[in-house]
Amino acid sequence: MMRYESTLQHLRDNQYRWLVTGVAGFIGSGLLEALLKLNQTVIGLDNFATGHRHNLEQIKELVGEKPWLNFRFIEGDICHLNACRKACEGVDYVLHQAALGSVPRSIQDPVRTNESNISGFLNVLVAARDARVRRFIYAASSSTYGDHPDLPKVESVIGRPLSPYAVTKYVNELYADVFARSYGTESVGLRYFNVFGPRQDPNGAYAAVIPQWIAALIRNQTLYINGDGETSRDFCFIENVVQANLLAAMTDNPDAVNQIYNVAINERTSLNELYKMIRGLLLKKFPHLQNHNPEYVDFRTGDVRHSQADISKAGKMLGYAPTHRIQEGLRQAMDWYIADLAPEKKTTGESI
Ligand SMILES: NC(=O)c1ccc[n+]([C@@H]2O[C@H](COP(=O)([O-])OP(=O)(O)OC[C@H]3O[C@@H](n4cnc5c(N)ncnc54)[C@H](O)[C@@H]3O)[C@@H](O)[C@H]2O)c1
Repeated sequence: MMRYESTLQHLRDNQYRWLVTGVAGFIGSGLLEALLKLNQTVIGLDNFATGHRHNLEQIKELVGEKPWLNFRFIEGDICHLNACRKACEGVDYVLHQAALGSVPRSIQDPVRTNESNISGFLNVLVAARDARVRRFIYAASSSTYGDHPDLPKVESVIGRPLSPYAVTKYVNELYADVFARSYGTESVGLRYFNVFGPRQDPNGAYAAVIPQWIAALIRNQTLYINGDGETSRDFCFIENVVQANLLAAMTDNPDAVNQIYNVAINERTSLNELYKMIRGLLLKKFPHLQNHNPEYVDFRTGDVRHSQADISKAGKMLGYAPTHRIQEGLRQAMDWYIADLAPEKKTTGESI
C-alpha cells in the first residue's frame, strides 16, 4: 500500500500524457476516471465494438468539467495502424485495454477476435515503439493458464490454451517479450483474473457473470449457472486493476519491467457462493428475491474449472496490494448497478 500511496502522490505532483485504448469499455473507463482524477492528460482510443459512449459521459460527470478538458477522444480501430500512430503522438505511457473479450465470442468468431487481439495489439505496440513512449502496459489474461491444473496460478507455469481468446492473449505476451529484446520497448503484461465493477456491461450474450447475474436478479429473470456451480474464480475488483496499472507504469525498478504479473486477490469463490453473495446484497432492496433459485445448465466449452492467482510476484516487484476483496467490491459495484440498470433486456447464460 505504501508504494501505491507514493505512486499516487507522484502522479498528483507530475502530469504525464497517457493513451488508454478501449477507453469506452469497462476497464478502460475505470482507468480514465482514475487518471483524470489525478490530473493526468489522457488520449482515449476506441471503436465502440463493445464499449459505450455513455461510459465516457459517466466519467465526465464523475470527474467534472475541468479535469475532463485533459481528455481527448479518438474514435478509431486498433486494426488500423494510422489510428494507433495518431493516438500515440507525444504519449508517455500506454495502457492498452482494447480487445474483444469473452471466451465464447472467440469460439464463435476466432477471426474477428484474432484481428483485434493480435493484429490490433501489434499495431498499438508498433505505434508505441515508434512514438518512443516510456512504457507499454497491456491487459493480458488468466486464460493463458489454460489447462494447467496447479493452483494457485504462478506466472511462470502455463498450460495449453483452451480457446482462441486464450491464444490471442498469450501471443500478446510473446510479442511484448520479443519487442523488448528486438527494440528495447519497455512493457508490462497484467494477467487480469475476472475483473468486475461499475460500467461492466450486463447486457448481451457475452456479458460477464457478475453484471449479468445482478441484472437478472433485479429484473426477476431466470438466472442460469453453467455446470454444478462449483466452478470457481478469483474475482478482482476494478480498483485493484487500476492500482496494478499505475504501479506497473510508474515503477522505477528495472527488474520489474518486461515482466508478466497476475492481478487478482488470491482467493477462490465458487459460482454457488457468488450467487449467494449477490442475492444477499440485493435482498433488502428487492424482497422478491427471497424465493429466487438459480437454474443449472450444462458446463460451457472452453471454461477452466478453477482459477486462483498467486499474487506474490506483483506484491514483491511492484508493491501491489489489493484494497478490495470480493465482498467490498460487490458492495461498491452494487450501488452502481442498482442505480444504472435499465429495465428489461433478455439475459443469457453467464460468461466467466
Ligand atoms: N474483464 C475481465 O475480467 C478481463 C479479464 C482478463 C483480461 N481482460 C482484458 O482487459 C481488457 C479490457 O476488458 P473489458 O472487460 O474492459 O472489456 P470491454 O469490452 O468493456 O472493453 C474493451 C474495449 O475495447 C474496445 N475495442 C475492442 N476492439 C477494438 C478495436 N479493434 N479498436 C478499438 N477499440 C476496440 C471496445 O469497444 C471496448 O470499449 C481486454 O483486453 C480484455 O481482454 C479483461
